[in-house]
Amino acid sequence: MSWPIQASRAPQSRRASLRRGAILRAVRLVQRTSLRPQDRAARDFLAIEGLPLGELRALLARAEELLPVAVGDARGERTLEGRVVANIFFEDSTRTRVSFEIAADRLGAAVVNLGASGSSASKGETLVDTARNIDAMGVDAIVVRTSISGGAALVARHVGCPVINAGDGRHEHPTQALLDVLALRLRLGKLDGRHIAIVGDIANSRVARSATHALVALGAHVHIVGPPSLVPVGFDQIAVGSGSISITHDLDSIIHDLDAIMMLRIQLERAAASGIAPDYRSAYGLTVARRARLRPEAVILHPGPVNRGLEIDDEVADDPRSSVILAQVSCGVAARMAVLLRAMPS
Ligand code: NCD
Repeated sequence: MSWPIQASRAPQSRRASLRRGAILRAVRLVQRTSLRPQDRAARDFLAIEGLPLGELRALLARAEELLPVAVGDARGERTLEGRVVANIFFEDSTRTRVSFEIAADRLGAAVVNLGASGSSASKGETLVDTARNIDAMGVDAIVVRTSISGGAALVARHVGCPVINAGDGRHEHPTQALLDVLALRLRLGKLDGRHIAIVGDIANSRVARSATHALVALGAHVHIVGPPSLVPVGFDQIAVGSGSISITHDLDSIIHDLDAIMMLRIQLERAAASGIAPDYRSAYGLTVARRARLRPEAVILHPGPVNRGLEIDDEVADDPRSSVILAQVSCGVAARMAVLLRAMPS
């Protein structure tokens, strides 16, 4: 049997050139879908600071609409079918990572998860290099959690796709602020003129920073409370809006007037232990005795993870009448759905 050598070469090289063409088109596609600088602001979600009030309100309204779908009570449109979201989580997380995953799933998008262990970060690859490589695979959005303050914006400067900040060091945790505000509004209605305390390790808390920006923008008065070692000087000047901020180191002097109180975890992983005295719980913990001084309708929040018996007593954290800790988690899925839809408009 003779083999038609010449005849088979031609189609093979045609196939090869077709393949090369497809590869070049794919590479161009990745380059073409790089966000233009003016589109970045509309699709990245890096911080509450600087977010126009109209955008904050629009995200909250959308998240509220999506709540039934977020918690599985209704089926929504799978608007993000065919899209791929990459979760790059270089710090541990339970609620934020899983809720981004569920949010993407409810919208029809596929999710890939990457942690610091199990990825080449453990071999010394940087966050930016990791993100650039994931971006080069043509993902539609990157969600990033990092211990680097400003790390999400750093990634956004180096990749083509939209970037969502899932907590960057001590800087911001903007989707947490959306879910906090959403959970508060479900209980309190408008936040304008409300008095809300954020208590504990303010210095290390990206949650406190983002929540303060959002609450002040929406007209609330934010009381920043904690030991002097854990409250940065000048924190009362950080945000703009119709609300305002005051600092106190004496929780009991303001507790009677609060509409809501958000307890924070002491961030031991960020060396906060040196800033707390042995009497921290009796001075700043939301104990059963201290809860009795709150107005009965006051709302209790905590972003989690909770250090039970330190910043909050079991009985207070689990009280369904005033604690919205698990409602915050449900709102988190809706908030992240709203942010994913904003990042990937159809
Ligand atoms: C917070 C975080 O990671 O910043 N948790 C969260 O995202 N739900 C707060 C914390 O870790 O204490």
